[in-house]
Amino acid sequence: MFGCDCTMTAMAYAALAYVLYKIFRGIYIIVYPYMIATPVDLHQLAGNAKWAAITGSTDGIGKQYAIELGERGFNLLLISRTKSKLESVKEEILKKCSKNIEIDIVAYDFKNANLDDYKKEVLPALEKRDVGILINNVGLAYDYADQLHHLDLQRNADIVIVNTVPVSVLTAAIIPQMLKRNAGVIVNISSGAAYAKMPYFSIYSSTKAYINHFTNILRSEYANTGLTIQTVCPFMVLTNMAAPMIETGIMTQSEVKMMSVNVKDFVHSAVRTIGIMPETTGCLSHQIQAAMFGLPEFALDYILKFQTKKFSAVALIQREKAAKQQ
Ligand SMILES: NC(=O)c1ccc[n+]([C@@H]2O[C@H](COP(=O)([O-])OP(=O)(O)OC[C@H]3O[C@@H](n4cnc5c(N)ncnc54)[C@H](OP(=O)(O)O)[C@@H]3O)[C@@H](O)[C@H]2O)c1
Repeated sequence: MFGCDCTMTAMAYAALAYVLYKIFRGIYIIVYPYMIATPVDLHQLAGNAKWAAITGSTDGIGKQYAIELGERGFNLLLISRTKSKLESVKEEILKKCSKNIEIDIVAYDFKNANLDDYKKEVLPALEKRDVGILINNVGLAYDYADQLHHLDLQRNADIVIVNTVPVSVLTAAIIPQMLKRNAGVIVNISSGAAYAKMPYFSIYSSTKAYINHFTNILRSEYANTGLTIQTVCPFMVLTNMAAPMIETGIMTQSEVKMMSVNVKDFVHSAVRTIGIMPETTGCLSHQIQAAMFGLPEFALDYILKFQTKKFSAVALIQREKAAKQQ
């Protein structure tokens, strides 16, 4: 009987310690990176390599990473789909940037997963430069959420390819030169959608979970090196990708106001977490939103059920619209 009491007490203390750990950890990841930590010198993390390469860099988050890194004095290798947009973003950054930097561009459609094409058109541009920072940002989403069998098959395939192949191939290609310097930064842009099993976003959410899992594993594989490997999981950032969420009514204006961040503030905040947080949402307000994902699974599933009802209503309207247009 006595032994049994001791076991129960030990278990109660262990449970209490676990709950306290979860609470303090939750507070730490909200408060420390955004309110206390001093940003790390990126040139030092990059091993003084002069170039930063950014995928999906003609718009939204990727373009803003390019602007931020240019302002910190890195030369920029912009890799994105549309050559004319790349040329105009290059001109725009060169004109506005307060530092004297070089910018090169590579036009590549990441829907093309053919490795021979990567080897011809993308990898040489990375390999011939001293790249100290790689931002794997390119990503593709749906225009609106729906059940898997209603979604366009080609779009599903494109999302799998664009969200998983470039991050895997470019990371593997850049690591050898970073290991030689025993320094370098790799930032993989995932999404808050990776944190939950999101009905109606099956493929997008799964591809983002892939990025989180992949990046976690890399942090273990290269733990004893000078490489900094970060996952960034944003919630809503006001870019072209987020626009359909507003246009289709998935989010109300007040939800948008409460939950979204403009791209400039978001990236400025996210860049300051490099070398401080191995995984982050990128900014304070998103980190608070992410705290919800620490809820027990049954509570989270319950909340997501309400969300799913809304997705389902919007999907119906969008399907009817599409049918009328045909
Ligand atoms: N915005 C959000 O709320 C949000 C939330 C969570 C996660 N994210 C993630 O953040 C990343 C950036 O999103 P964003 O909102 O900045 O997107 P965005 O505004 O739509 O910009 C996407 C960029 O990627 C390029 N791109 C798209 N498809 C491409 C392809 N097949 N090949 C090469 N480049 C391509 C685009 O080039 P073009 O100009 O030629 O189209 C553009 O430069 C994505 O990985 C996304 O999943 C965004």
